[in-house]
Amino acid sequence: MISTVYAITLVCIGLVIAVFYYVFVNSKEADPDYQSIIKKWYGVRSKWFLFLLVLGLTVSVLTTTPFPTPDQKKEYSSDDYQNVTVDAHQWYWIMTPSTVKAGQPVEFKVSAADVNHGFGIYDEHMELVAQTQAMPGYTNKLIHTFDKPGKFKILCLEYCGLAHHAMITELTVE
Ligand code: CUA
Repeated sequence: MISTVYAITLVCIGLVIAVFYYVFVNSKEADPDYQSIIKKWYGVRSKWFLFLLVLGLTVSVLTTTPFPTPDQKKEYSSDDYQNVTVDAHQWYWIMTPSTVKAGQPVEFKVSAADVNHGFGIYDEHMELVAQTQAMPGYTNKLIHTFDKPGKFKILCLEYCGLAHHAMITELTVE
């Protein structure tokens, strides 16, 4: 049985080599018709490349202005911003304060004590309003302005162990 498989494998390898050899030998024949096709389509290819390049740059600039992530190095003054500190733990949130005002931007400083978590703010219809990563050793700044009062839910957006689903807390906007 094994020797039969071995023989079939050898024959198949031989066939593949034969096909490669055939293509390699025949590809050396210079065909004048083919040369003109190459010239024409290489021209089309470079124009297509330029078109895609300009399109890609335009779409990138239009979709990242203004940039969705706030400046992480900037110090957001407590006169203009409400400051909230968020610490993610397995499996709970420590958020101080947990009540903010509507109409004034909130700066969430988000970090984690153990593993990676995801800080997600949901409105009363359970629609995601804003989110950022909660990572040990880093503080990620998330800026959001709540336009009207309400009860918001904080859920963990990254699987972080057994009780990941239970990492829920509440944010009140007055
Ligand atoms: Cu924390 Cu999932």
